[in-house]
Amino acid sequence: MKLKRKYILPVIGVLLILIQLFRIDKTNPPVDEKLDFVATMNPSEEIGKKIVAACYDCHSYTSEYPWYTNVAPVSWWIKGHINGGRKHLNFSIWNEYSDDKKNHKLEECVEVMENGWMPLGTYTWLHPDAKLSDQERKDMIAYFKSI
Ligand code: HEC
Repeated sequence: MKLKRKYILPVIGVLLILIQLFRIDKTNPPVDEKLDFVATMNPSEEIGKKIVAACYDCHSYTSEYPWYTNVAPVSWWIKGHINGGRKHLNFSIWNEYSDDKKNHKLEECVEVMENGWMPLGTYTWLHPDAKLSDQERKDMIAYFKSI
């Protein structure tokens, strides 16, 4: 069956409405402060705040979900980042990691920050408070190296 040209836009419209039924799960698992990176590693207040602002939405159980996370398919894409981020590194369960794993994760933090991969560019575009100046980035790298 050939779809008549005049039906294409209405069909896309209906699909966009239908996919809204598939909502993402926005419940954050409970956080145990005793396991949390910033709460237990005691970085300086400045560094701690920056780590939370720049990394915690994807790498912890304290993700915040702005209004556009209600809109599929954007919501699916963001949830993918959060799932992927938590899987690789979850600051909310930091103290469940073995010493080896901690050291490895710290090395990875240095690597992704030196290469400018993190925080993700699409994220800082929508979260200006997560943007790091060159100096802030250097300070965070130095901190990750120091522990
Ligand atoms: C918008 C979400 C988001 C933010 C914000 C974010 N990350 Fe990530 N991060 C991810 C995702 C998604 C992955 C997994 C990438 C992949 O699948 O390879 C990841 C992977 C990582 C990894 C593992 C890399 C590897 O080699 O496996 C480290 C370390 C990391 N991020 C550190 C950070 C740090 C430090 C910050 C803050 C400065 C940060 N991330 C901010 C989403 C994010």
